[in-house]
Amino acid sequence: MAPAAPDPAAVERGAVIYRGGTCPVCHHWEGQGNRRGPDLTDEEWLHGDGSLAAVRTAIETGFRHGAGRRFGGKYEMWPLGGMELDESDVDALTAYVWSLHRRRRAADTLTREVVSRIAFGSGADQDRAQPIWDTVLALRPQLMLMLGNNVLGGTEDMRELRLQYDKLAVKPGFAELRRQSRFMATWNDLDFGREDGGADFDRRAESQQVFLDFWSEPSGSPRRQQQGVYTSQRFGPPGRRLQVILLDTRYGRGPLWRVSPDEARRRETQGMGPYLPNDHERARMLSEEQWRWLGQQLRQAADVRLIVTSIPFVMEFTGWESWANMPNERQRLIDLIRDSGATGVLLLSGHTPWADVSRLDAEAPYPLWDFTTGPLNRRATAGIGPNRHRIGAAAREPSFGYMEIDWTAADPELRIEVRSVANRRLLRQTLRLSELQPK
Ligand code: HEC
Repeated sequence: MAPAAPDPAAVERGAVIYRGGTCPVCHHWEGQGNRRGPDLTDEEWLHGDGSLAAVRTAIETGFRHGAGRRFGGKYEMWPLGGMELDESDVDALTAYVWSLHRRRRAADTLTREVVSRIAFGSGADQDRAQPIWDTVLALRPQLMLMLGNNVLGGTEDMRELRLQYDKLAVKPGFAELRRQSRFMATWNDLDFGREDGGADFDRRAESQQVFLDFWSEPSGSPRRQQQGVYTSQRFGPPGRRLQVILLDTRYGRGPLWRVSPDEARRRETQGMGPYLPNDHERARMLSEEQWRWLGQQLRQAADVRLIVTSIPFVMEFTGWESWANMPNERQRLIDLIRDSGATGVLLLSGHTPWADVSRLDAEAPYPLWDFTTGPLNRRATAGIGPNRHRIGAAAREPSFGYMEIDWTAADPELRIEVRSVANRRLLRQTLRLSELQPK
């Protein structure tokens, strides 16, 4: 008997059986369906009422030639997809397939819903426990933004990279949050596949599909066709509209300039990285295609806009990867925010081993705030680097970001915090929406 409400461990074990088996051949990597088999994530069940028992029956009996409905019976599915599975495997698989459908339904309603609770984080070591998810879960975020290094892949072997994602998938707190909240993700260097890598990484197209598979991007999505994983989404009605823009700072990024090995060692003692500002006119953080796309997004109507970048935007100058390494590109984004007339912009970033709040006043149309989270489950061994835009003190504990928007106020209030595993507030800032527009 399948359990009445599948437990998270079964769902995640089912995901592994699903992907390791024949199912993706006909139902795609995350159940989105393809030419040979139907979408398992949509509203409609072709066979049965969508209960656990009905899903189990479909998997157990399969469909003989002529028995299917979606494709005029042209395609068939062997019992258990032709696999050898025991009772508990079938339970797990059933739990997983059933949960696919629920996940999609939860995601659909949210785009109409007003979003006021958002969590964000970066840098999750899949080889260690990740207790932080329980703290995030308790806050019941509607939206979870993954800022990159979502697994510390650090491998150019795509089979290996998928295995790293499987380890993340079975973390109980993560699995539960994924069922309850909508996730949006971009990548950083280690889940991209090369440490501090950019356009020089020759397996990036393949890596992009591995990433999109894990984050359940439908097979027909434009994100599958474009070069890079950038995307955006808007939530809620005018007056309470949130826009989330996730950049890809890897796929089109040009070469970085480095100091000498001796100088790099000296810098390390000050918590600094080895990079130098590259002010060459052709230095690129984003591809031209992505810049064009970004301009279009910023011209859409929205009240609050979160620009998610895997590496810090405002922070200067740490020597680690950040937009400060490409000053012309950094200025280009500031100019684009001004020229597009986009108000309500906040930046969210990760990558540094510490958490930081930065504000840029002088060059920007209005104060640009950048909230940088530290790793989700790794304590920094390196020191805190310099940052001339730092507001308050930086924090070295594992952390995540949490933001609440009070839309009921005439001038909506934004409370942004960085919290620890024990849910302690490490950094906090309260802003009024009216502060995020030109005076
Ligand atoms: C060779 C192709 C193929 C394979 C492999 C396959 N399926 Fe199917 N599956 C189908 C087809 C075809 C249908 C019926 C479509 C229709 O009704 O038109 C189907 C239907 C289903 C349904 C019922 C969907 C509904 O809307 O009622 C479920 C659930 C399902 N498959 C799960 C699985 C699982 C789990 C696996 C792996 C063990 C698997 N399938 C392997 C082709 C396949």
